[in-house]
Amino acid sequence: MTLWQHRMGAPPADALLSFTESLSIDERLWREDLEGSRAHVEGLHHAGLLDDDELETLLGALRAVEAELGEGTFVVVPSDEDIHTAIERRVTELAGDVGAKLHTGRSRNDQVATDLRLWARDALAEVAGGLIGFADVLRELAESAGSAVMPGYTHLQRAQPIPVAQWLLAHAWAVERDIARVLDALVRMDVSPLGAGALAGSTLPLDPPWVAARLGFSRSFANSVDAVSDRDFVAEGIFAITMAGVHLSRLAEEIVLFTTEEFRFIRLDDAYATGSSMLPQKKNPDIAELSRAKAGRYIGDLVTILTVLKGLPLTYNRDLQEDKQPLFDAVDQFRLELSAMQGLLATMTFDFDAMRQAASSAYLQAIDVAEYLVRRGMPFRRAHAVAAGLVRDSLERHVALAELVAAHPQLGEEAVRLIEAHEAIERRGANGMASLESVRRQLDELRVRLGER
Ligand code: ARG
Repeated sequence: MTLWQHRMGAPPADALLSFTESLSIDERLWREDLEGSRAHVEGLHHAGLLDDDELETLLGALRAVEAELGEGTFVVVPSDEDIHTAIERRVTELAGDVGAKLHTGRSRNDQVATDLRLWARDALAEVAGGLIGFADVLRELAESAGSAVMPGYTHLQRAQPIPVAQWLLAHAWAVERDIARVLDALVRMDVSPLGAGALAGSTLPLDPPWVAARLGFSRSFANSVDAVSDRDFVAEGIFAITMAGVHLSRLAEEIVLFTTEEFRFIRLDDAYATGSSMLPQKKNPDIAELSRAKAGRYIGDLVTILTVLKGLPLTYNRDLQEDKQPLFDAVDQFRLELSAMQGLLATMTFDFDAMRQAASSAYLQAIDVAEYLVRRGMPFRRAHAVAAGLVRDSLERHVALAELVAAHPQLGEEAVRLIEAHEAIERRGANGMASLESVRRQLDELRVRLGER
């Protein structure tokens, strides 16, 4: 029998039960539901609504249900709409009339919001931890790249030489912001909705802040109507994952490119690459490709939750049941992705020679030639024209840029050293720029920041 059957003159249609059930999705909230129920029961005792014996009976029944769920012996019945219904039904079976007191002063509206916050709190803390480990791998790779140089790209065309570490740290800084975003979302979701009831609270002498503290939340809801309706925490959690997933997809795309024969910058470890069922020679970067694609899945999850919430009137509407699947999906997929990508990064090797060679074209220093002229007083637009003219000349007449620089009246022999990639890098010494000195400062700062997280 459903919890609300006494209101109805007819039993629920099978089609209603199969369409509205959420047990198949929210079953995994059982630990959180039991935790919330224990706190609620203790709150009822604290409020004088349960005596000592009743408290013990209910806690004992909750422990028995916990054992059944933990051992996989819990038997679901067709009227179990969701995990909350199923647990309450079983507690009542085990504890009789006392079991029937479990839901005193509580609605599934505040219950489900509490359970999901408990789940999201742990899941996102784990995601933050995973991201910290991931950023650390990027930082270590940057550290071990030493003074190796590669081309930096714009429009995927070689643009300027940069330390390989500067490239790796660019990805690490993005992940560092992702960590901050997850931690920030955790602060906002740290609110207990328990006690808000269906929407307006209860006439019973409940003490929501007491229960909030019992559940390890920093505070209790400020407004009961908001408490049962607020799913910002779901949207924010998914957004934080989506942003991190988009960042990882960008790194993944570069790994796909850089492992091609055309680039030859990176070699994957065999344990983190896949083969072909037909072509014997193939070694494929499937982890990176799937990471590129999973970003689309997180975006889908984010659009799902935002679309559910858009235009939804206060307070609880059954629409909100659709909040769990996108959150679970984003968290599950991201955990898997993070650990696969971390392993891939930690075991891949660089071909620093290929990278240096790709960065060795003199044209990548055309801007250094222009800025040399600027330092000598030439307006930048004219200096740009001079350098561009030299590049065009060099390409059309097949003469080395260095030779043309040496022969130019405003440049000359002294300007030829501008063409060397390592020197070009070292000339960019200010904070955050591409010099090795800047990279060293970044490594120090990143180590401190990740250590503080
Ligand atoms: N399974 C529902 C959900 O996940 C539980 C809340 C149902 N509440 C209600 N009043 N129908 O949202």
